[in-house]
Amino acid sequence: MKEVIIGFLGCGNVGGGVWNLLDNFRKEIAHRNNGLSIKVKKVLVRDVNKARSCAVPAELLTTDVEEVVSDPDISIVVEFMGGEQPATEYMLRALRAGKTVVTANKVALALNWHRLQAEAQDKNVGLYYEASVCGAIPIINVLQNSLQANRIGHMMGIINGTTNYILSRMYENGEDYQDVLGDAQRLGLAEPNPAADVEGLDAAYKLSIMASLAFHGRVPFPKVYTEGITKLTAMDISCGKEMGYVLKLLAIAKRENNTVQVRVHPTFLPATHPLSSVNGSFNAVYLQGHACQEMMLQGRGAGDMPTASAVVSDILRAATAEIHLHPTFANTAEADPSLIFNDNWQSQYFIRLSAEDKPGVLAKIAGWLAQKDVSIATMLQKGKADDDRVPLIIVTHAAPEKSLRKALESFDAQLCTVESVIRVEA
Ligand code: NAP
Ligand code: HSE
Repeated sequence: MKEVIIGFLGCGNVGGGVWNLLDNFRKEIAHRNNGLSIKVKKVLVRDVNKARSCAVPAELLTTDVEEVVSDPDISIVVEFMGGEQPATEYMLRALRAGKTVVTANKVALALNWHRLQAEAQDKNVGLYYEASVCGAIPIINVLQNSLQANRIGHMMGIINGTTNYILSRMYENGEDYQDVLGDAQRLGLAEPNPAADVEGLDAAYKLSIMASLAFHGRVPFPKVYTEGITKLTAMDISCGKEMGYVLKLLAIAKRENNTVQVRVHPTFLPATHPLSSVNGSFNAVYLQGHACQEMMLQGRGAGDMPTASAVVSDILRAATAEIHLHPTFANTAEADPSLIFNDNWQSQYFIRLSAEDKPGVLAKIAGWLAQKDVSIATMLQKGKADDDRVPLIIVTHAAPEKSLRKALESFDAQLCTVESVIRVEA
């Protein structure tokens, strides 16, 4: 029987889940892996006296990182501390000491992947990160292995569980954003700092990792256009619903020849779209490859056990691998020079206006849009507001982003103000 000794960096939501899964699934792990046994020797935490969701013995806990990254018995270091630092430095130290690293940390990976990978290759050890994107969904494995014979044309995903949970509850029950965010935190879905979720950053980190693998060229995080859900209102969601749309925070990566677009923003989808029925903390990725054609993967994107499922699978792959594979594209801090980033993508737009209710206003609005070649697909006028203005919803036909922005800048604020602009994908 082979025993592999590992160390944890962190033991919160995800770490507790990993401890419990390794503990409860010991027999099955051994059966499936020629008698393999995984033993956790040390667990780094901030506070050794804190109550934990797993029964980790007190003598394993430490606040000294050296006890994990420098212990010669430990061959795999598993990181679920979160945040860029000190997690990145600790992982680098472990790699330099010749240990394979498994991480669930998309921030550290997206920002320092090039450094971590270089160190892992130099020391001929592994770097595994399935849990960093989409919780239990094996999207990293799918992109690196199952679909490696494909040129990926586009991916569109719900890749943040917290925001999907919030938007689903707002859509279903018209609930208030702040109340629902509190529940997502209590369920252990949200990041230690939930601003990363609701501002769209968590999804952008994940998209940078997925797009780099899918397009086989480094797509750095700053190249991802990012807009979160904090400015969305119950009114936008209910007006969209009335028009047959569901609101999701989508991560979109598209490639046309060498031109790519990578963006995270709230998006209205037709209620009939496969992603529209993905609710709660579920994640899903809808993608298209030149050989596999269209495919959708769906599963729990956050939470202790779904994330532990991905982490433990990485630990087992790392423990049984004869050689550790690394992506072969130039993994640098900069974008791959062969990729041309396009920030003037085409989209339809949902525009909510507050307009003066008098003859000629609609014609003027249509005229301002037409001057920039933006044409109207649908319009909806709601009842009169208190201040004699009316809420007016316009959905445009597909138009370039920059034309739409220029058209909106030309609107006369005396006649109408732009309350929200939300992209619509078919
Ligand atoms: P968490 O509950 O806040 O746990 C963080 C753990 O790391 C805690 O045990 C904490 O110690 C320890 N820690 C943090 N900073 C430390 C430091 N400077 N020194 C020593 N220990 C430190 O976070 P989580 O929800 O488990 O998330 C962890 C990672 O998994 C993040 O990268 C997150 O993005 C990723 N992830 C989370 C989920 C999810 O559903 N939650 C899903 C996928 C990926 P104490 O316990 O003593 O405070
Ligand atoms: N906070 C993240 C989410 C955890 O809500 O999706 C999974 O990465």
